[in-house]
Amino acid sequence: MRKHIVAGNWKMNNDLAQTQTLISELKKQSKTSNAEVMIAPSYTNLWPAFQATREEGEIEVVAQNMHFAENGAYTGEVNASMLKSIGIKTVILGHSERRAYYNETDDSLAKKVDAALANDMRIIFCFGEELQDRKAGNEENIVESQIKNALFHLDASAFKHIILAYEPVWAIGTGETASPEQAQNMHAFIRKTLATKYGDDVANSVSILYGGSVKPNNAKEIFGKPDVDGGLIGGASLKAEDFYAIVNAF
Ligand code: PGA
Repeated sequence: MRKHIVAGNWKMNNDLAQTQTLISELKKQSKTSNAEVMIAPSYTNLWPAFQATREEGEIEVVAQNMHFAENGAYTGEVNASMLKSIGIKTVILGHSERRAYYNETDDSLAKKVDAALANDMRIIFCFGEELQDRKAGNEENIVESQIKNALFHLDASAFKHIILAYEPVWAIGTGETASPEQAQNMHAFIRKTLATKYGDDVANSVSILYGGSVKPNNAKEIFGKPDVDGGLIGGASLKAEDFYAIVNAF
């Protein structure tokens, strides 16, 4: 069976004290579902978050981004070995905000994917169409090319370490969610795209998360769709009760 995963992308929110408070509130919640739980605090709070969660083991702390280079003159950047050295084993790559504001491209993301895999890290790979693409009926072409360009140079075995996250840009932080049917249709298309290249076994084993205004009141319906294996949660991951209501929606 595919893993169910609910990951909280904190984006650029929470200083150290707020991180510690939110984690202690998360630890008071009880998990009644089989979903794996992840949180992605900012770089400066990864280590304290890792320390605060490691003993209990229910919450995995993951990074929001990393650079593809091993080391070197890249001021302000963080690489895979730095993340690994503080216990981080999973990284989010290709979030639409990184694509939009920091010029991340399919090419640079392919390099980041390779660097993460070379360091035995797990990847949550994000992609999704913009509103204009959907209005033009072009969403499948966009999603297909984002996946092909960044991932299709990989061997099938790499997909053991990859989680996909479909996040339509028009639904992120807008309060507008893709309908459960829109999410299901796209997730089924993504699985078909994987199957065409790598076969059914790979396609059926990869978890595909949906992201974009998932809230406690819509999570159950979205997660109820057969090809939706979890969620990447922004705004609602900043409140412990809301986040666990989503975790427990499975
Ligand atoms: P949102 O963000 O839940 O606030 O829409 C989702 C994301 O960007 O991953």
